[in-house]
Amino acid sequence: MGKIIDGKAVSADVKARIAIETAELKKQGIEVGLAVVIVGNDPASKVYVRNKKLACEAVGFNSYEYALGEDTTEEQLLELVDKLNSDPKINGILVQLPLPKGLDDKVIINNIRPEKDVDAFHPVNVGKIMIGDYSFLPCTPAGVMELIASTGTEIEGKECVVIGRSNIVGKPMAMLLLHKSGTVTVCHSRTKNLKEVCSRADILVSAVGRAKMITADYIKEGAVVIDVGMNRDENGKLCGDVDFASCEPKASYITPVPGGVGPMTIAMLMQNTLTAAKQQNGLI
Ligand code: GUN
Repeated sequence: MGKIIDGKAVSADVKARIAIETAELKKQGIEVGLAVVIVGNDPASKVYVRNKKLACEAVGFNSYEYALGEDTTEEQLLELVDKLNSDPKINGILVQLPLPKGLDDKVIINNIRPEKDVDAFHPVNVGKIMIGDYSFLPCTPAGVMELIASTGTEIEGKECVVIGRSNIVGKPMAMLLLHKSGTVTVCHSRTKNLKEVCSRADILVSAVGRAKMITADYIKEGAVVIDVGMNRDENGKLCGDVDFASCEPKASYITPVPGGVGPMTIAMLMQNTLTAAKQQNGLI
């Protein structure tokens, strides 16, 4: 019988710890500030940004939202990033992706000061993750690691399979598992025998973006199954990459969608923002 990992509960624990530390900093006269920049009208991005703002309020950070129009030029956006880079009230800067057509993610990310890049998307921070010497966590993969840790599962020596090779999830996910001495395989759209590879996994992390694609025949008996997918099923209902109903009985632990990985990503963003504030105030 599978055990369901409660991402909301684990993220509430992380945020409670952050709130205590934030209150301590406030007593020393240090406030924590996160700037969230959204460009255009993408409805999903608006929801994410709203949730980030609510999380800031919940842990005691100051949040600064910048909503720019669809027709914003690269020059205008870079001007804002520059202003935030040099504003001491702002410890972390997050530019919500995707950006509207005509704006190049890479150019914008490369212009965020690495010390304020709480997404850990800047090449300097990505490089640090690669060599295992990092202070900013890649948010979604770090959230997955917290969820695995919450089950008491040891990663060392385990067969870990990551499906997806994106810069935001798949690649950093593989690195974090590798740093914990997992034996890591990264699968993607060109992988042959995906089912066979997945069914070897003691720990399976899926970040494919295809509703309920992972069925019970992909799952090894007793595996830990982590679903990063955020899709809509045939009835328009939110669901993951994993067909929860068929996989749950085989898994030792499994995350639901919603209520699994999603809440963790924001908790890790709060963690990075706190780290940024402490670094910028010479506390670490
Ligand atoms: N869009 C979807 N996920 C993310 C994220 O983690 N950070 C940013 N900046 N944009 C996103």
